Amino acid sequence: MTRRLGTTIEELEVAGQIIRDGGLVAFPTETVYGLGADALNEEAVRAIYRAKGRPSDNPMIVHIWEESQVEALAYDVSEAARAVMKAFWPGPLTLIFRKKAAVPDTTTGGLDSVAVRMPGNETARALIRAAGRPIAAPSANISGRPSPTNAEDVLEDMDGIIEAVIMGESCTVGIESTVLDTTGDIPSILRPGYVTPEMIEARTGIKVVYDSSLARVPSEELDPSKGADTIDDFKPRSPGMKYKHYSPKARVILVKGDIERARAEQEALGLKTGILDYGRDSEEAARMFFADLRRLDREGAEIILVRTLDEEGLGFSIMNRMLKSAGFEVIS
Ligand code: TXA
Ligand code: MG
Repeated sequence: MTRRLGTTIEELEVAGQIIRDGGLVAFPTETVYGLGADALNEEAVRAIYRAKGRPSDNPMIVHIWEESQVEALAYDVSEAARAVMKAFWPGPLTLIFRKKAAVPDTTTGGLDSVAVRMPGNETARALIRAAGRPIAAPSANISGRPSPTNAEDVLEDMDGIIEAVIMGESCTVGIESTVLDTTGDIPSILRPGYVTPEMIEARTGIKVVYDSSLARVPSEELDPSKGADTIDDFKPRSPGMKYKHYSPKARVILVKGDIERARAEQEALGLKTGILDYGRDSEEAARMFFADLRRLDREGAEIILVRTLDEEGLGFSIMNRMLKSAGFEVIS
């Protein structure tokens, strides 16, 4: 039985106790819902991989509620990393550091680095504080499915599988945090998110780059016959970026240009077609895209046509998710 918990202090205390006991609790953050467990308890973290059906080489983000907790997790926190933390925490930005031995290898998928984030959502922070330890949390979806951005979407995947879900608010950002590797000379973005390079440079004066792997579109389509859906020639440094992602049951196709014409073509073939057109509103696209994929699935869509966005700023981050959900299928 999965318990539904509210966001009162008393209920967050109950959730914190479940985490201390090695259980799994899904909780809201400003980006997407997380599936949390005690980051320092290897058994508990293994249960996350099992619940999600997640490959064990795909590391977790460790969530903290105050900055001083970084010291117990990471070595060599650079000046640049400190400046970026000061400017963007709490918020939708994850930093990669060299990991200390206290963090189990299971949590970092065997890597010698650790991803750390201080979420901005008050419920998330209150839960981490109540648990009294850092919380490892990937997005609270079955591996490969769209990330959940509201409590109902979490239950769609996790009801009966995990101990509890905190029935909090819908996520205000709607796509996952930006992942910034601070272990090299120049900080580099391994996963684009709400916080863009332009925002980091404007607020801190620090120049960051997109990791080169992000520019690559795989030459072959994702091949589900290859076990974990890895793309052969696509080996990004953030292990999670190589897996098939954000896939609803319907076939997703991105459309550049006239989406009504594309709809008419699909419907002429007799296919039940859903449309996602956010115009130029990238904030709205970020907030709604994952939830809309799940909604159209429930409505029985066979084809989902998604209007592309300009790949600038936040638009680049959303297009990263849209392209993956479409298996890189784009028509003009
Ligand atoms: O917004 C978010 O980041 C959400 C909420 C719950 O905080 N979490 C999330 O976690 O999206 P997940 O597990 O779905 O994605 C984590 C990403 C993966 O692409 C993973 O490979 C990468 O971060 N990552 C984690 N630790 C890493 C490390 N040490 N080095 C490189 N990439 C890492
Ligand atoms: Mg995820």
